[in-house]
Amino acid sequence: MTIDLGGPLQKRCRVCGMEYIPSNAEDSALHKKFHAQNLGGIELGKGFVESVRAGGGVVWTGDDETCVAVVEKKDTLGARGAAMKRRVGDVLEVVRTELGAVEIAESELWSSVSTKEALDVLAQGDRVTTSEAVKANRFGRFKIYLYLHGSKCIGVCLAERISHAYKVLEFDDQLQGAEPTAAKPDAVASCIIMPKNLAISIAKKPDDAMLGISRIWTSTSYRKQGIATTLLDCAAENFLYGLRVDKQLIAFSQPTESGGCLARRWLATKNGWHVYTE
Ligand SMILES: CC(C)(COP(=O)(O)OP(=O)(O)OC[C@H]1O[C@@H](n2cnc3c(N)ncnc32)[C@H](O)[C@@H]1OP(=O)(O)O)[C@@H](O)C(=O)NCCC(=O)NCCS
Ligand SMILES: [Zn+2]
Repeated sequence: MTIDLGGPLQKRCRVCGMEYIPSNAEDSALHKKFHAQNLGGIELGKGFVESVRAGGGVVWTGDDETCVAVVEKKDTLGARGAAMKRRVGDVLEVVRTELGAVEIAESELWSSVSTKEALDVLAQGDRVTTSEAVKANRFGRFKIYLYLHGSKCIGVCLAERISHAYKVLEFDDQLQGAEPTAAKPDAVASCIIMPKNLAISIAKKPDDAMLGISRIWTSTSYRKQGIATTLLDCAAENFLYGLRVDKQLIAFSQPTESGGCLARRWLATKNGWHVYTE
């Protein structure tokens, strides 16, 4: 047992985000393991990868043993479902720790969208038939895209169905650290401060949206190699049964500074992209 006297006993690693006590051998060993996962990826085991492949979950294949696999609600049912949930949970925990984000409860992660929501989302712009929209109700709210290198997960995108999002009006370095304010032009709701000090101004009125990027993460050693871009392409292409979702209808949840840069690059626009709150 360690007694916290409020001193510098506990430390938060600046790379993986884990809080631990360096002088505690057990804690230190746990941090070492966690840190290695953040840096080099999370080992999911050959069995997991084979099982995803067998279930038709591979949506993109690259060179060098890389691929993107999707895991969704239907994969978490049945005999292999519990193991699937555990593996996805391991990956999301590494992401959550680095981002210092709130945990998404399992009951939410694997929930379904209601028929009305599914119909509302899918029927937009007559893009799909009603029977396809009804069928959608059998599917979950989230889909998780895992970028695999061999049996290691080195990138992940957690995508969810959403119905509306707010246009980013200003994404400016000068806003960093600004106070939320209402004294903005009428169209602006507020200046919202996101985690890691990203500050953006968003429109007052929501726009229609379909696909929310709840979490996106690339293993530290593999950044700036296009992995997050590939994951976003896969989500846009695959989320709605092969119907590519327009980038206009895709929004990011609470973007960090690097997430904001990624969004701007992927959407090829400085402002006018969308964010949503979970
Ligand atoms: C944001 C993140 C997912 C990007 O992953 P990635 O695999 O490195 O992204 P990509 O290689 O596909 O980047 C595509 C483009 O986005 C922009 N970009 C990505 N990361 C950036 C960064 N840290 N700073 C500035 N621009 C960045 C660049 O324009 C890049 O293109 P370029 O390399 O040709 O310049 C990754 O940095 C990460 O996991 N960060 C920690 C978690 C996080 O903040 N997630 C975002 C939550 S919204
Ligand atoms: Zn660490």
